[in-house]
Amino acid sequence: MENKWINDAFDGELPESFHGGVKWQSPSNIALVKYWGKKGVQLPQNPSISFTLSQCRTETSVFYEKSDRFGLSFYFDGKPNPAFQKKVESFLLSQIDSFPFLKQLDLRINSRNTFPHSSGIASSASSMSALVLCLLDMERMAKGTDSIDKQKASYFSRLASGSACRSVLPTMALWGQTDAVAESSDEYAVSLEDDIAPVFKTYHDSILVVSDAQKEVSSRAGHALMESNPYAATRYEQARAHVTDLLTVLKTGDLEGFMQITEAEAMQLHALMMCSNPSFILMKPNTLRIIRAVCEFREETDIPVCFTLDAGPNVHVLYPDRHAVLVERFIMDELERFCSGSLWIADRVGDGPSSNH
Ligand code: PMV
Repeated sequence: MENKWINDAFDGELPESFHGGVKWQSPSNIALVKYWGKKGVQLPQNPSISFTLSQCRTETSVFYEKSDRFGLSFYFDGKPNPAFQKKVESFLLSQIDSFPFLKQLDLRINSRNTFPHSSGIASSASSMSALVLCLLDMERMAKGTDSIDKQKASYFSRLASGSACRSVLPTMALWGQTDAVAESSDEYAVSLEDDIAPVFKTYHDSILVVSDAQKEVSSRAGHALMESNPYAATRYEQARAHVTDLLTVLKTGDLEGFMQITEAEAMQLHALMMCSNPSFILMKPNTLRIIRAVCEFREETDIPVCFTLDAGPNVHVLYPDRHAVLVERFIMDELERFCSGSLWIADRVGDGPSSNH
């Protein structure tokens, strides 16, 4: 399907003096209802819902200069990074019809993450959304317009890395068409900020780093394996039902319902991996130890704390701010020992991307 922004593409000649810099920080996000399985061009098989985080961010700056052809050099943490350069270059070239002005620019991109490198935290959501925001900012400079369209940012972030489309929105985002939300779309995420009880805006996500090793199976390969997963159709139906139920839970502030759906989703994601052909397991023994300890702590204390998992061994521990002191004490006393190098990241729900110009 042709994107609705293609007719707006800036295709004029840039002045010889056209040069400058743009800079964006964009956060990671954690899915509560998971996107796992895609169709067409980076479209989800089911809708997903996430918290936008605040601490785990990528900061990207792009210096651009008029040139007679497209050029790119990419630095990560101040050093040339050929692997990232290739990924970024192939994304930008794939979008050249939507951003033809790139053919007249030489770019130097510097990127860094605000969280530890070796935390094993997927950074494509934060890095690709930060890159797309810089791209739209350069287009804005070329066109001489005032602001960036968030829906457009989400659309192109999705093309760069599916879940990145949710990172451009504050607080909570929904990506994927569902009859429960009229403006929802498979092509971009929409904000749920105005549809959730205040307690969810206070949520903490303490990310317990169980392993900092490179993932054994990439999410790209994991999505592809869903095509032959015998439970795929049931999964997509279940995820749709979870989205509808979670939307109600978020509105009403039902913490029991929230915990039940969130944990069921985490378990289902990893069960799908175990049922793939070939099957794979991304959890580690310490992932299970943490999950068990979180559930026991909840039973003993009645504190509404729950867990979710990404496509990896790390555990995201979720709880409202009013319980932060007790939960953080519990993490330090009981869970830190299961973390690689005792590392955990105190993150929480955030306001989305920011630019400092
Ligand atoms: O956006 P991708 O291709 O990295 O896939 C993300 C997959 C999960 O993190 C497991 C789920 C999600 O919705 O973010």
